[in-house]
Amino acid sequence: MNPVLEMHGVSAAFDGREVISNVDMKLTGGRITCLMGPSGCGKTTTLRLAAGLIKPTKGVIELLGKTIEPDTGEEDLIDIRRELGVVFQGGALFDSMSVGQNIAFPLKYCRGMEDQERISSMVLDMLDHVELGDVRDKFPSELSGGMKKRVAIARSLIHSPSLLLLDEPTTGLDPMTARHIDKLVLDLCDKFGFSVLVVTHDIVSALGISDRVLLMNEGKISWRGDPEEWSRSEHPVVRRFAEGMISVGSMEGRGT
Ligand SMILES: Nc1ncnc2c1ncn2[C@@H]1O[C@H](COP(=O)(O)OP(=O)(O)OP(=O)(O)O)[C@@H](O)[C@H]1O
Ligand SMILES: [Mg+2]
Repeated sequence: MNPVLEMHGVSAAFDGREVISNVDMKLTGGRITCLMGPSGCGKTTTLRLAAGLIKPTKGVIELLGKTIEPDTGEEDLIDIRRELGVVFQGGALFDSMSVGQNIAFPLKYCRGMEDQERISSMVLDMLDHVELGDVRDKFPSELSGGMKKRVAIARSLIHSPSLLLLDEPTTGLDPMTARHIDKLVLDLCDKFGFSVLVVTHDIVSALGISDRVLLMNEGKISWRGDPEEWSRSEHPVVRRFAEGMISVGSMEGRGT
């Protein structure tokens, strides 16, 4: 299976401060990769790099057959963004738009669609896929946290991206609602065959849905393996993160 996303020696900096260092990763088609790590370690920054929202200061990102480098132009980044589905940390629905308008947004913005009847029927189909009833005319403020996540997922998938990027999809949800979102992501991934990069610090979610786990600390990938290897691993980085005792700045990693 061809990789949909590859990072080679990727670094990113804000105001001259490097927050991601020399990150390598490869995501293959139809699989779910979880990026875990303590708060502030650089997970969202990595996801924003994968989304073409920021550029690396070093290294190369191969994304759906396109290349992002430090000197890639904004126009090329915009083209790349149109091919992706992204659910940002917190969901970030447009509060002034109805659910239907939120979900339809990428059809207009990414695909240039204008046929209202077709858009309306695709929105209804997508509401069905995320197991929401007809809440098209409701506004985000009228929905529960779990419903908002479903709408955000529906919006990210309506234009059939081959890569879905999810930032903390279960944060702020009660455990039962969180497991429902996990199951939804798994079911949709099976149904549509896209690849997923999920950023989370919810270990239950990560081990429950992923084919591959990456653990990040201080901007570097400290451990990588599958969920079974994670459960068996005696690696101090894994054990300390699993036990909630990760201490930033004092970990040794594989660094690969
Ligand atoms: N736009 C920005 N400008 C300056 N610094 C930033 C910016 N975005 C992130 N950072 C810094 O980069 C580092 C990594 O932040 P990031 O948001 O990627 O962490 P995270 O792992 O997603 O954390 P959390 O689990 O809390 O969401 C932090 O030190 C943060 O302050
Ligand atoms: Mg984050």
